[in-house]
Amino acid sequence: MTRSPQPRAPLLSVRELRVEVGATRVLRSVGFDVAAGELVVLMGANGSGKSTLGLALAGHPRYQISGQAQLAGQDLLAMPVEARARAGLFLSLQAPPDVPGVKNNLFIRTALNAVRSARGEPEIDAYDFLGQAKSGARRLGLPEAMLGRPVNEGFSGGERKRNELLQLALLKPRVAILDEIDSGLDVDGVRALVDLVRAMRADGTAFVVVSHYLQLIESLEPDRVLRLADGCIAETGGIELARTIAAQGYGAGRSRQGAAAQA
Ligand SMILES: Nc1ncnc2c1ncn2[C@@H]1O[C@H](COP(=O)(O)OP(=O)(O)O)[C@@H](O)[C@H]1O
Ligand SMILES: [Mg+2]
Repeated sequence: MTRSPQPRAPLLSVRELRVEVGATRVLRSVGFDVAAGELVVLMGANGSGKSTLGLALAGHPRYQISGQAQLAGQDLLAMPVEARARAGLFLSLQAPPDVPGVKNNLFIRTALNAVRSARGEPEIDAYDFLGQAKSGARRLGLPEAMLGRPVNEGFSGGERKRNELLQLALLKPRVAILDEIDSGLDVDGVRALVDLVRAMRADGTAFVVVSHYLQLIESLEPDRVLRLADGCIAETGGIELARTIAAQGYGAGRSRQGAAAQA
């Protein structure tokens, strides 16, 4: 008897996720899975709830959330925000804020030591960390001087995004959600992003990438493309869905769904 290969168990599994922000229901029922090494692209019109989804999974304190979200079988929604990060979840913000008075290298080292301790690894000392941070910054084209400045203070848009990538590279999360990480990145930054994601995927990191740009999406070679609309995953496909959205816009999605429902 031949057996078909077992599908890989998802690292991130989301079911019937519903999110209310104040009096507004932003997400009605969202469900999807991402396995180790997989990359899912999340597309959707402005205001469709892509950032809300990432923030809800990371533990935004002011959202009302119901449904299920599991990271490697652990109940994410039951954990405080820092436990989610320790369990291996990473969210890169669409608009990374300044953190005045907190030095960038200390910020990243503190976060790294927290996740290392959760993984049962010893703390990394300041000297070893600085070596890793400098080589990471060099690879990502972030000037070394930015390691010694307060987090994101006076950083350009693209430098903020490179700094998010530096955190991603050093923290080595199990699941990374990248919210419009490409916005503000120049061509070299986009190339560094694609190389980093490829290397981390090979090591088993699962990715959810929010992007509007077909060229980047093509370079990322996603396993699946999801379109968020009306508070749920309205369409799922391969790279062809991203190409169709790029060619026809989000407005045409409704008629595609209508046609599919009638077929
Ligand atoms: N704090 C908030 N208060 C009120 N409305 C919000 C808040 N945060 C998000 N929203 C609304 O939720 C919807 C989804 O926002 P968002 O997740 O940022 O969309 P996207 O990232 O897909 O562009 C938008 O209509 C936005 O205005
Ligand atoms: Mg957004």
